[in-house]
Amino acid sequence: MDINEALYTTRAMRRVSSDPVPDDIVKAMMDAAIRSPSGGNSQNWRWVTVADRNTIVTIGDLYSDAWAQLNETFYKGKAEQARSSGDKATVRVMNSAQWLADNFAQVPLVVFPYHRNDPSGASIYPAVWSLMLSARSQGIGTCLTTVLGTFKHQEVADLLGVPVEKGWINAAAVTCGYPLGKWGLAKRAPAHLVTYSETWGEPPTWTIDEPLWKPDDR
Ligand SMILES: Cc1cc2nc3c(=O)[nH]c(=O)nc-3n(C[C@H](O)[C@H](O)[C@H](O)COP(=O)(O)O)c2cc1C
Repeated sequence: MDINEALYTTRAMRRVSSDPVPDDIVKAMMDAAIRSPSGGNSQNWRWVTVADRNTIVTIGDLYSDAWAQLNETFYKGKAEQARSSGDKATVRVMNSAQWLADNFAQVPLVVFPYHRNDPSGASIYPAVWSLMLSARSQGIGTCLTTVLGTFKHQEVADLLGVPVEKGWINAAAVTCGYPLGKWGLAKRAPAHLVTYSETWGEPPTWTIDEPLWKPDDR
């Protein structure tokens, strides 16, 4: 797959079928992930791939509790506000996120990246994104989620046997599976509106009114 296609269309693909993700694809995703850079090339990561149905059902219960907690705290009123103001993009995200919370038990594969001894906390995310890009290139949809790490990290660690006392910290739970939806271009605020030139607040000399890659460019 062309790198731009992967970069521009790797979306949060929460709606996936329960069809298992073959081991060859899991291997390719993991092999791509661990090629990523890390501070000082420390590679202070461990990854737990979970496909066992019973474990995923249990994690799904934790996930829906965590999602409810998020909606009672940081996201309080978010869905209602989006609906009443006609903010369709946010309504779509909230509906999709709710689908995952309601259907987590059918996700065929969840990858849990753990990291430690990284003061920046940044070294794990290039690898997580590489995992997601590799999945995308093999037709597997992913969603990077952090709500379990925020509200249920101890419960998940106990379930997976993670030795948190040795400093391992959960970075995400990446859900993976064959998409039920379609891949599309990720819509974002254009780069020239979020980029400054030389000093804060100075707009760049360029603008990008249309994405520089589109599905038609395939
Ligand atoms: C750091 C991070 C944490 C996220 N946590 C969650 C989560 O807990 N649950 C969820 O459903 N989506 C989660 N997402 C997915 C985002 O909601 C999603 O990437 C964003 O809405 C853009 O979606 P799109 O690429 O399909 O446009 C997370 C994404 C990131 C980067």
